[in-house]
Amino acid sequence: MSPLLSPSLLAGDHANLAASAQVVADTGLAWIHLDIMDGHFVPNLSFGPETLAALRRAGNKLFFDTHLMLAEPHRYIEPFAKAGANLISIHIEPAYDHAGTLAEIRRLGCQCGIVLNPGTPATAIEAVLPLVDLVLVMTVQPGFGGQPFRRDMLPKLKQIDTWRQERALGFRLEVDGGIDLATAAECRAAGADTFVAGTSFFRAKDKAAFAATVAKF
Ligand code: DX5
Ligand code: ZN
Repeated sequence: MSPLLSPSLLAGDHANLAASAQVVADTGLAWIHLDIMDGHFVPNLSFGPETLAALRRAGNKLFFDTHLMLAEPHRYIEPFAKAGANLISIHIEPAYDHAGTLAEIRRLGCQCGIVLNPGTPATAIEAVLPLVDLVLVMTVQPGFGGQPFRRDMLPKLKQIDTWRQERALGFRLEVDGGIDLATAAECRAAGADTFVAGTSFFRAKDKAAFAATVAKF
């Protein structure tokens, strides 16, 4: 699957998120990663559906790759879909109707993804693999940008990529946390095709070169 870079707006300027999102668009990228945190599932807060709606009102046309880090994601699907999300990813760890929530995301016209934390084994998502457009393997414990990449997640990526091939499934395989050009290359070798980069992207002086390198993976 062709490589995609999805810069995380969490590392943008929170006093001017529209301008930071525009930087992503001006780099010629198609996707932007939106990290939604509730202070329960993760020990941090970020932004909500109104922020997505405001970015759309400001004219942003990027593909909104929306990562819900919520204890009760099933309660917030409709607001995010209405606000302009294109893809909504939900974590496997909290107890709720995962398959039903993935179906609701689809019914509302969005693509759907399933996410696993570093401590969650690949087998936890095996049953929902046929239901998703994307699997997101967290390569840090979610909650904060700027953490070091967890190299011990590479075998998990390989396992999920193997299942994808054996079962002829078409989901994207995304990584998130501590991703820079070097760690993205390692993840690419392990089967990943979609790369979330917050700190490394927004700090990169030459963002076009950063994007071009990922595009050639
Ligand atoms: C972590 C978030 C990430 C975060 C990545 O909780 O899910 O998307 O923004 O940030 P970096 O790329 O700085 O590790
Ligand atoms: Zn994320």
